[in-house]
Amino acid sequence: MVIEHNVSLQPFNTFGINAKAKRYCNITNETDLSEILKTRNNQPFFILGGGSNMLLTKDIDALVLHLNLKGIEVVNETDDTVFVKAMAGENWHQFVLWCLKHNYGGIENLSLIPGNVGTSPIQNIGAYGVELKDVFESCEAINIKNQETKKFYKEDCKFDYRESIFKQELKNKYIITSVTFKLTKHNHELHTDYGAIKQQLEAFQISEPTIKDVSDAVISIRQSKLPDPKEIGNSGSFFKNPVITTEQFNTLQSNFPEVPSYIISESKVKVPAGWLIEQAGFKGKRFNDYGVHNKQALVLVNYGNARGSDVYNLAKLIQKTIKRIFNISIETEVNII
Ligand code: EPU
Repeated sequence: MVIEHNVSLQPFNTFGINAKAKRYCNITNETDLSEILKTRNNQPFFILGGGSNMLLTKDIDALVLHLNLKGIEVVNETDDTVFVKAMAGENWHQFVLWCLKHNYGGIENLSLIPGNVGTSPIQNIGAYGVELKDVFESCEAINIKNQETKKFYKEDCKFDYRESIFKQELKNKYIITSVTFKLTKHNHELHTDYGAIKQQLEAFQISEPTIKDVSDAVISIRQSKLPDPKEIGNSGSFFKNPVITTEQFNTLQSNFPEVPSYIISESKVKVPAGWLIEQAGFKGKRFNDYGVHNKQALVLVNYGNARGSDVYNLAKLIQKTIKRIFNISIETEVNII
């Protein structure tokens, strides 16, 4: 285990922000992780996974533990179902491709989401009608205080829209080391109702899609409207879609009749933040090296050498403007560090 000093985190965060770690350690096995937690003498530390859901607004004055635990294995199976365990440091999309190669179904709609397997349960990643919780069986995590390993099952995790117990009461208490997924071996249940997927499959002229076809459709949709972090720094959706009361929604709709919406329950409606941001005039706006993506207003981007604090100030301006125009508060989805 080597501890390095003043390491640039630019290659390790998809926003491509050039913040530094005062101390940095690449963790490749669980024994090293336990050891470093045990011997750190209450010194502050910071867990870095795929770096895909964070905005670094300053250097990190702590020991950065870069979680690079690798490995994928089938841990159990029946005639119809397979349980696959993937270590936290596996790249999410590479894991999706591994499952497709073995014809294991369930996560094809989650193709091309940036980040690592270990962080996927924390914010219950979701796209095109599927959320991580739909395929999650369990995860293993190390207790930061006493280094004991604990298994969390689905019902323990309090999954909700971009939410879980790991973002709430267990925040900074556990480090997820692996996730086990429950996937199908055949008769896959396809989720192709999402309008864009239907259209894409039609464009591909596919009427009886396989899981690989669904994945290809999702990849094509994402590539057409979401920037590739390798080319333009970003963290996917910067904000969550706000959920408002039906009363609030009725007022909004009377002022803006064309507002898109999804009904959540009898009393709650979700409104796409991307639409609100576009209406407020921010879509495609560029300020020096940072701005709002021109094809999806929910995504803030770093065109080169933006500072995290500049991006954060833009996010605050967007939040204030949305509040003023629509009287709706939008929360960040990305963690601000
Ligand atoms: N819209 C606009 N302008 C925009 C963007 C969107 O008017 O610039 C409108 C669209 O016309 C559409 C609606 O907003 O009516 C929804 O847009 P989209 O299908 O792109 O989905 P989203 O709600 O903006 C969410 C997720 C994405 C996920 C897509 C597809 C959140 C915060 N974001 O975006 O997730 O890929 O649905 O399922 O829930 C991510 O979390 O990083 C992410 C990319």
